[in-house]
Amino acid sequence: MYSVPQLGILASGKGSNLVAIADAIAAGELNAQIAVVIYNNPDAPVRERCQERGIPHVLLNHREFASRELLDDRLAHTLEQYQVDLVVMAGWMRIVTQVLIDRFPHRILNIHPSLLPSFPGHRAVQQALEYGVKITGCTVHIVTLEVDRGPILAQVPVPVLPGDTVETLHQRIQQAEHKIYPKTIGAYLQRLRQLNE
Ligand code: GRF
Repeated sequence: MYSVPQLGILASGKGSNLVAIADAIAAGELNAQIAVVIYNNPDAPVRERCQERGIPHVLLNHREFASRELLDDRLAHTLEQYQVDLVVMAGWMRIVTQVLIDRFPHRILNIHPSLLPSFPGHRAVQQALEYGVKITGCTVHIVTLEVDRGPILAQVPVPVLPGDTVETLHQRIQQAEHKIYPKTIGAYLQRLRQLNE
C-alpha cells in the first residue's frame, strides 16, 4: 500500500459524502488522498464538486455497458489505473457484481441511510418513515455481493422527529454520515495497514 492511502470514490448523485471526506482530508483528520472519483450519471452534481476541488473524476455511464459485469470490469480497471487502495461508495446507485469484489477483496466500503439490517435497498429513509420507527440512522459496512448485507463497521442512531419528511430526516441522517464516514474510513485503513505489516 502507498504511504498515503489512495481512495477511489464511486458516486452517482449529490456528492455530499465526497465533500465530507475531502474536507476531513484537508483538515488533517483523515490520512488519505482521493485518487479518483468515478460517477455514472453525466449530470450528477458530484461532477461539479470534483471540478471545484480539482479532484480527478471519470464518467463511466452504466447505460453504455451491456452488462453489470462489463461496467464493473471497467470500474476495476480504472481504479487500478489510479492505484486505488480502498474503494469508497458514496451514493453509488449500482448493484455490485463479483467482478469488482474479486478485484478489491475486503476493500470496498459503503454507507447506507438506515440502521442495517433494517431497511436495506432503495428508499431506506422513506421505508423507515412509513414503518414508523422512532430511531433510524446510518451504517458503514464492507460491500459483499448481497446488497447492504456486508459486515458492519459503524452505525450512528438518528431520531425520527414528529413532522419529519423524507427530506428533513435524510438531511439529519446525512449530517451523521458526514461525521462517521471519514472516521470509519480512517480506522479501516489503519486496520488494513496493520494486516499488511
Ligand atoms: C447517502 O445518504 C448514502 O447513505 C446513500 O446515498 C446518499 C448519498 O448522498 N447511499 P451524497 O451523494 O453523498 O450526498
